[in-house]
Amino acid sequence: MSASASPRIVYVNGRYCPLEEATVPIMDRGFLFGDGIYEVTAVLDGKFIDNEPHLQRLDRSLKAIGIRNPHTIAEWTAIQRELVKRNGLVEGSVYIEVTRGVFEREFTCPPDIPPTVVMFTQVRSLRDNPGVKTGVAVITVPDLRWARRDIKSVALLAQVLAKQAAKAAGVAEAWMVEDGFVTEGASSTAFIITANKEIVTRPLSTAVLPGITRQTIMRLADKHGLTLVERLFTVDEAKAAREVFFTSATTIALPVVKIDDAVIGNGKPGPLVPELRQYYLEAAEQAPG
Ligand code: PDD
Repeated sequence: MSASASPRIVYVNGRYCPLEEATVPIMDRGFLFGDGIYEVTAVLDGKFIDNEPHLQRLDRSLKAIGIRNPHTIAEWTAIQRELVKRNGLVEGSVYIEVTRGVFEREFTCPPDIPPTVVMFTQVRSLRDNPGVKTGVAVITVPDLRWARRDIKSVALLAQVLAKQAAKAAGVAEAWMVEDGFVTEGASSTAFIITANKEIVTRPLSTAVLPGITRQTIMRLADKHGLTLVERLFTVDEAKAAREVFFTSATTIALPVVKIDDAVIGNGKPGPLVPELRQYYLEAAEQAPG
């Protein structure tokens, strides 16, 4: 960063400060145990996309592991807005992390220690993703995660390893597989479109994160008369699908044209995924944010 550039402002426990001045004690349980929850909301044209459901999921995740939610939705939103404003963020995302707090390194801690809150913005290109036109490739990896993947835990070791493997293979995402069935992407929800144009994704359970983009894409697909089916699908079924894609707050919906060594369809994005992406962008543009 040049000396004249304005500093990146982050938020730590009630304080806005330059990134370089932001610190968390080494006894923080997020650092020592991965004992915390996170959320990522996309920002497009300076407006949040689907922020309320993200903040509701944050609340659900915190409740599931017994961390007190330190803020109301209105308070979270106010801090997010202030961060977006102070950083002049137009397109990107806002990250929230809440950990159980700071205590001597012991597995247990008193229930009333104050949670740690860290928030920052990230500049990203959401609308213009080169993968939209070309399609992207994914690899499959074993799903090595714990049994409560519905909780958005900061303990992401299995996802980090899966993403590193994807990067080493030169592909965009890793799809995780359990008992032959695709669970989800390392940081996205997996979808296939069958020969008879059914949009298929795994039903919600403790096996997957309830994706907010998943929910919105399904609502928009239904609104436009497309057929949705929530069921498990295998890697082989995905490889033979008409179209394949994944969704997340930061990728929206990206067409997949290759899974491992199998080319999907004619190797080019099919018509439906770009259409779904377009519906999503239009809805986001029209939303108050
Ligand atoms: N990841 N599944 C997993 C395992 C995820 O980590 C994510 C999001 C999703 C998609 O959820 P949503 O549509 O609510 O973003 C599904 C975020 C973006 C991340 O870890 O950066």
